[in-house]
Amino acid sequence: MIHTVVQLSYVVATALFVFSLHWMNDPKTARRGVTAGIAGMVLAVLATWIQPEIRHHLWIVGAIAAGFLVGVPLSRVPLTAVPQRTALSHAFGGLAAGLVGTAEYFLWLAPGSGSRDVAAALEHLTPFRMTAIVAEIILGFVTFTGSLMAAGKLQEVKWIPQRPVTYPLQNVGNIAILVLAAALGVLLVFYPAAPWSPVVFLVVAALATLFGVLLIIPIGGADMPTVISILNSYAGLSAVAMGFVLDNKLLITAGALDGSSGLILSIIMCRAMNRSFTNVLFGAFGQVQRAAAGGEQKDYKTETVEGAAQILEMARTVVVIPGYGMAVAQAQHKVRDLYDQLKKRGIAVKFAIHPVAGRMPGHMNVLLAEAEIPYTDLVEMDEINAEMPQVDVALVIGANDVVNPAARHDKSSPIYGMPIIDADRARTVFAIKRSKNPGFAGIDNDLYFQDTTWMLFGDAKAVVGDLVKELAGGNGMH
Ligand code: TAP
Repeated sequence: MIHTVVQLSYVVATALFVFSLHWMNDPKTARRGVTAGIAGMVLAVLATWIQPEIRHHLWIVGAIAAGFLVGVPLSRVPLTAVPQRTALSHAFGGLAAGLVGTAEYFLWLAPGSGSRDVAAALEHLTPFRMTAIVAEIILGFVTFTGSLMAAGKLQEVKWIPQRPVTYPLQNVGNIAILVLAAALGVLLVFYPAAPWSPVVFLVVAALATLFGVLLIIPIGGADMPTVISILNSYAGLSAVAMGFVLDNKLLITAGALDGSSGLILSIIMCRAMNRSFTNVLFGAFGQVQRAAAGGEQKDYKTETVEGAAQILEMARTVVVIPGYGMAVAQAQHKVRDLYDQLKKRGIAVKFAIHPVAGRMPGHMNVLLAEAEIPYTDLVEMDEINAEMPQVDVALVIGANDVVNPAARHDKSSPIYGMPIIDADRARTVFAIKRSKNPGFAGIDNDLYFQDTTWMLFGDAKAVVGDLVKELAGGNGMH
């Protein structure tokens, strides 16, 4: 009876996970998607817990309490820190898979008293189960240290270099470590209970842990979101392997969903940056930055808030291009006020959304939705670029790399080939940022120096707020 209830609950939980992912596809249903995901997970935990084989309930209560202790503060990080928070979750997932695999192996190697019963071990550690255990520990431990390194890089932890670190024969060395771990894993599949097997097992785990660190070292910060998403799919695959080890079908399906959605997101992000997987993982992107620095000093033209407000008032079409700076300044509500002011004057206002603007997928969508800017006025990059030459004013708010024309024509630029929003093709460009500092990729942006661009230096929230005041106060005055 309990068995049937458990299996039925697993089917319902699986359906909830599938719907959760489906609803996440659209901002209108995303909240429902989150609720479905939570409901599925609660159901999965409860259904697993009520099984008669589970006897040490206090351990589970303790684990849930520990989860709360770590999870609640993690849920309160600012939106700008969500990528590294996500990486931490993957690290925990990878560690859990790695530890479960290790426990499962050693449990059968030394059942009960600790005296080695080779016959019993061999009976349980079949080649199939050993393959799953080896896959689980390799993927789990790679995900663990890889995700920790990725989180550290994004959080700008002092002792982890942000820039790609490269050295001779790096890729060859890394691949050799992975191949060695896999080869030793194959050995374990055939000889799971030889006297030397436990040592080999620990060596495989150690090599995977080391590989996770070395894999991330040569990758630059700008590629971290893609890498995090790839690590997400590794975490999912390690959960699939764990499902085979524990003979748990829900873990297999949930892990497969996690693995494939992570992979799809990485592919979408690679496309948005016009990069290949191998280039992201082995390209040491962002290493040769500032090559052009030290050349002639170019000059920016600045504009006053009053002047910019007058030009905005006269425009027929305005395209707002938000970026990371809007998130830092938390300027989205002021941007909404500006939108209202412009709309009131009959000006067509659209928001151009670059897939990797900000610091996480969908970052701009989330902020603009929070300020209740209608989704219908949010336009994706390809669509808006066709209209850009007819646009009167492009208002760049804290965006930099995603509007850098060097990506289109400068083959020596580290962002060459990344699709951008063609702000430079609008008739007039206003760019709001605090200083002359570069963006995430650390390179100059020619957009700011071109004839049609005027800088509005200052914090995005303050500048947009002043623009709103000027427009609101200026009703009929100009
Ligand atoms: P960035 O290139 O990072 O540029 C942001 C600009 O905002 C900076 O130049 C900065 O200039 C300005 N800024 C910062 N705080 C500000 C404030 N309070 N007020 C006004 N301006 C402010 O941003 P982007 O154009 O959105 O591009 C995103 C970059 O991040 C890409 O290189 C992308 O690959 C990378 N990345 C993306 C993601 C995802 S998935 N979205 C994740 C990680 C990394 P000042 O300092 O002069 O103000």
